[in-house]
Amino acid sequence: MAVKIAPSILAGDLANLAGALAQCEAGGADLVHVDVMDGHFVPNLSFGIPVVAALKKRTHLPLDVHLMVEQPERLLDEYLKAGAARVAVHWEATVHLDRQLDRIRQAGAQAGVAVNPATPIELLGDVLARLDYVLLMSVNPGFSGQTFLPHALDKARRLKNCIRERGLPVEIEMDGGIDRDNIRQVVSAGVDTCVAGSAIFAAPDPVQAMSELGRLARAEQT
Ligand code: DX5
Ligand code: ZN
Repeated sequence: MAVKIAPSILAGDLANLAGALAQCEAGGADLVHVDVMDGHFVPNLSFGIPVVAALKKRTHLPLDVHLMVEQPERLLDEYLKAGAARVAVHWEATVHLDRQLDRIRQAGAQAGVAVNPATPIELLGDVLARLDYVLLMSVNPGFSGQTFLPHALDKARRLKNCIRERGLPVEIEMDGGIDRDNIRQVVSAGVDTCVAGSAIFAAPDPVQAMSELGRLARAEQT
């Protein structure tokens, strides 16, 4: 399957989210990455449920919701109802991970687990068979525009080996600091979906930057 590009609209023009969505469509995005932050799990606040519902009305692209919130179980059903095509909860943020993954799948969405840079992927062994994707953080979550942490590449390789050995249909998404200089390494480490915020929306021409990232990623894959 071709590697996917998921622009993170947190880095877009927040006063013109419809415009950011139009740029995603024009640039050939596969998903729109929506960063939900609660000011507790991460020291920042971003989008709530009404914003996700409003985005859903303005694009045909699937919404890839990344919940950086403590106890995601409190609002999970509402984010699903708002139209998320897939939802990742953080491993570090919930005690009953299995229960949240079941809820996401029962709602017809794809279920993901996000892991912080300091969280070993080996902790996912018992849950891998019950999720659709792992969201590997390549920055500490909270803000766009941070520098890529290279040890995320080794985590991706280890996780990919484990997924292959077990023959599981689990995808790997990587999020944070991905740009035109490192996206080839990210793809060759086994990543299926690349999230990019500032490399796209801080570029002079976001549509062109997005297609360029897609081109670089797919060239590395073949
Ligand atoms: C970080 C977010 C990322 C971020 C990506 O907490 O989860 O999705 O917005 O932005 P860049 O690509 O600028 O690191
Ligand atoms: Zn994110």
